[in-house]
Amino acid sequence: MGVTIKDIAKEAKVSIATVSRVINNKEDGVGKDTRENILKIMEKHNYVPSSLARGMVTKKTHIIGLILPDINNPFFPGIVRGAEDAASKYGYNIILCNTDDKEEKEIEHIQILKEKSVDGVIYTSTLEDKGENIDLFKKYKIPFVSMDRNRPLDEVPFISTDGEMGMYKVVEYLIQNGHTQIAYISGKKGMYAEYKRLRGYKKALSKYNIPIAPELIKYGDYKISGGIKCMEELLEENLKFTAVASENDLMAIGALEVLNNRGIKVPDEISVTGFDNIFLTKVTFPKITTVAQPTYEMGYNAVELLLKIINKEELLCQEIILNTNLIIRNSVAKL
Ligand code: RIB
Repeated sequence: MGVTIKDIAKEAKVSIATVSRVINNKEDGVGKDTRENILKIMEKHNYVPSSLARGMVTKKTHIIGLILPDINNPFFPGIVRGAEDAASKYGYNIILCNTDDKEEKEIEHIQILKEKSVDGVIYTSTLEDKGENIDLFKKYKIPFVSMDRNRPLDEVPFISTDGEMGMYKVVEYLIQNGHTQIAYISGKKGMYAEYKRLRGYKKALSKYNIPIAPELIKYGDYKISGGIKCMEELLEENLKFTAVASENDLMAIGALEVLNNRGIKVPDEISVTGFDNIFLTKVTFPKITTVAQPTYEMGYNAVELLLKIINKEELLCQEIILNTNLIIRNSVAKL
């Protein structure tokens, strides 16, 4: 076992707290000679202080947790990149927790992060907006920021994009191309993101006096398999539609797969749109028209907001809503 803070304190004949003050560059309470002696001993032993040793005085580990539902979805790595960059700028490290969209894993991760004494957590929940896991953060007194999918209560700090406006823009684009029978593939029911984007879809239809047909709205799970399932349902029910707007890109890819496999031409027979602008939408056939979400900025801003909360510079209910962009490619036909 390597040298510990205890060994350094013993050799320097001081308390562990004194060594910790030196490690954390705290000026007060440690004389110049004592400080120099401690630094010399640390150097002699090539001692690198652990986050626990650092935290003895600051009560901070400089570690934050990042809980994500599905790291296989190319939407999420952009968030991780942004979060990583912001964390390293402020001297923090990230523990990445993937929940596979499972409630039990989410709870397990929150408990593990508590045990690791993280300074805070950025949390993209996989659950319906009931707020149970938010209660866990409150119970454990862990500062947190809710990101992207869920906003269980108004008074929690939240970062996301304007999903309602994003979906409005892409559905309006379909309407401007002559589509009036537009099916909709939604994400998981009960999510704040799902609610907002569905609202954007309905708003665009209403603006152009197009009646909302509930049978054209199907619920998936943000995965390719969900898009496949929804498109199969739409086709098997013999519903009439000339376009389908999907709540995320993976489900749009699933829908496209079904259409391609059945020889239904996209976009000539059915137009398809996505949401997220993941890199895969540029390599599908045809390339998918979608709505870009600034994932890097989401991750970066989430860390900055969390650090402000940790350092008590920010109100707990701060909300950051970023803009989206319509990305026009080849999957929408003009009727
Ligand atoms: O693809 C993942 C989806 O889940 C994204 O649209 C994101 O915003 C989240 O809701």
